[in-house]
Amino acid sequence: MANLGVKVDGLVLPNPFIIGSGPPGTNANVIAKAFDEGWGGVVAKTVCLDASKIVNVTPRYARMRASEHKEIIGWENIELISDRPLETWLDEFRELKRRYPDHVLIASVMEEYRRDAWVEIVERCAETGVDGFELNFSCPHGLPERRMGSAMGQDPAILEEVCGWVRGVTDKPVWAKLTPNIMHIEEPARAALGGGATGISAINTILSIMGVNLDTLRPEPTVAGYSTPGGYSGKAIRPIALRMVMECARLIRAEFPGRSLSGLGGVETGGDAAQFLLLGANTVQVCTGVMIHGYSLIHRLRRELSAFMDTHGFTSVDEFRGYSLKYLSTHADLVDRQAAAKAQSRRDHGILQDGHWIGDELVTQSEKLVANR
Ligand SMILES: Cc1cc2nc3c(=O)[nH]c(=O)nc-3n(C[C@H](O)[C@H](O)[C@H](O)COP(=O)(O)O)c2cc1C
Repeated sequence: MANLGVKVDGLVLPNPFIIGSGPPGTNANVIAKAFDEGWGGVVAKTVCLDASKIVNVTPRYARMRASEHKEIIGWENIELISDRPLETWLDEFRELKRRYPDHVLIASVMEEYRRDAWVEIVERCAETGVDGFELNFSCPHGLPERRMGSAMGQDPAILEEVCGWVRGVTDKPVWAKLTPNIMHIEEPARAALGGGATGISAINTILSIMGVNLDTLRPEPTVAGYSTPGGYSGKAIRPIALRMVMECARLIRAEFPGRSLSGLGGVETGGDAAQFLLLGANTVQVCTGVMIHGYSLIHRLRRELSAFMDTHGFTSVDEFRGYSLKYLSTHADLVDRQAAAKAQSRRDHGILQDGHWIGDELVTQSEKLVANR
């Protein structure tokens, strides 16, 4: 029977599945529900020092369906970070750690670009007994207007500085949550790890417009007749998330061995999660999947990951973590490998005779070159 337990940055989790920051971790009641259902950990909804500045609108979600009334494949939100007062959150963190001392609770925090603000929020949350921090450098809507969220995550120098401030005041794990709204995710990842983050979480949502309503001619979600680009999540973003997690995993292996990686974006099945692990993630977070399927999704995730591991004879997650990274190469390398494989096949089957190719229409010049090496 496969052991799903993982140890990451000193934290011990019964399985690699963590609730991603957002509505599924929006207060103590739902976080307790997640723990009761068996989630390996929870990243709470992002908090800041002054929640009175956080004003949400309704509607703030729009969904992409495979066809009318069918499966949700993508989800756009223009929801901000938590609008609940920090004092309320601190009480809830304290109470949660009292009731669930062995469960992993990560506080997600976001602040303006001021050292005193980051130090204060981290110190106040740390006092409650939370197990670690996720620094939200990645919310793509609303907060960038105040130079917060992805506005900070798109500036590696700022990232490095802020991670250093946070590292200076806590020994707990610190994960920098990165934005995908950037050309090369290695750059902010390198800056965050260089600044002292113990790990990376990737990815947050992708800046998007869900669509334009063809009756009203207004973009959606429509608030008082207007809209604004929001964050896209759900299974539609999984291929992009996998690519970015792979890039972070490579960076960590090459330059920051031992640092951690939490992968997220569109996970809804144990097989989805296995793919993030195969590309180097230590843990896998789920946000939109829980909004669609509920907290009991964890049972399916555990069952399917376990079945995957049994099929391949893996007894622990560490045995296959990052296994598939070695099979990602460059396009030029694929061209060479394909040519070599075809040439080998021809040699094996005797198609290359007396130095002359048979079936030449299939043979390119580069294949001949590789075969004759
Ligand atoms: C409605 C909604 C609210 C979110 N709020 C937050 C947030 O407060 N902080 C944060 O770091 N990420 C937030 N996220 C981003 C998710 O944590 C996650 O990075 C992203 O949605 C991709 O993962 P998923 O496809 O599993 O949702 C939110 C996502 C959604 C859909």
